[in-house]
Amino acid sequence: MPLVAANWKMNPSNLDDALDLVRGVMSVARGQAQNVEVAIFPPFPWLLSVSDLIIESGVKLGAQNVFWEMKGAYTGEVSPPMLKAICQWVIVGHSERRLYLAETDEMIAKKTAAALSAELGVIMCVGELADHYDAGMSEQIVSGQVRAGLASVAADDSARLVIAYEPVWAIGSGRNADPEFAYKTMRLIRRIVGEMIGAGAARKVRILYGGSVKASNVQQYVELPLCDGVLVGGASLDAEEFVKIVKTTSEVYGHR
Ligand code: 13P
Repeated sequence: MPLVAANWKMNPSNLDDALDLVRGVMSVARGQAQNVEVAIFPPFPWLLSVSDLIIESGVKLGAQNVFWEMKGAYTGEVSPPMLKAICQWVIVGHSERRLYLAETDEMIAKKTAAALSAELGVIMCVGELADHYDAGMSEQIVSGQVRAGLASVAADDSARLVIAYEPVWAIGSGRNADPEFAYKTMRLIRRIVGEMIGAGAARKVRILYGGSVKASNVQQYVELPLCDGVLVGGASLDAEEFVKIVKTTSEVYGHR
């Protein structure tokens, strides 16, 4: 089943707005639950309130980050078991964390392995910078990130693993990637995952596209044979827009 994931990042700025946004998404997501999995990723302080609201709605909940240790003296961090108590999903290795928090491939590999071992679903993000894209280095960068990030992942984890291809130059820029280009990179990702955990297990790993996805362009991605959904940033902060993205995805997969 395709996954449509809403990464709210550090938005909206108060809990009331966050709960309004959830209410706007919930009713529609429930109706599409046969065809599409919807997951929302609010900021940490609102996870509990959102969790209370979406209970029994079919909408899944996730966090935007996690630490790799299970407990201990790690000020400010949140462990996989703590998240597992309220979330089904976590995003790991988002480019904004790579850029602003200096997260390395090695840290991302540890986070991915730790979250999977706590039975969370993991969306591991990969994607090249604009300079790399301009230099024709996209495949090299993305394959390096996938190989490093999955270093400790086992074939058994494949059903809970999602890889989001988010070219950094497409994030928040309004410059969404050409679908043909996105397809080639996703095909590469699938091949590398197959080399690492076996082709059978790799087929269970879902691959998403992210980067300036909106209602008017989502169809061209979810129609791609290898694309299992989308990771949406800015457009997920507008309930109406996000609901259209969910509906379009549901329609496309309903016809497959
Ligand atoms: P935008 O949809 O705002 O480009 O953000 C994409 C993203 O980073 C999702 O994780």
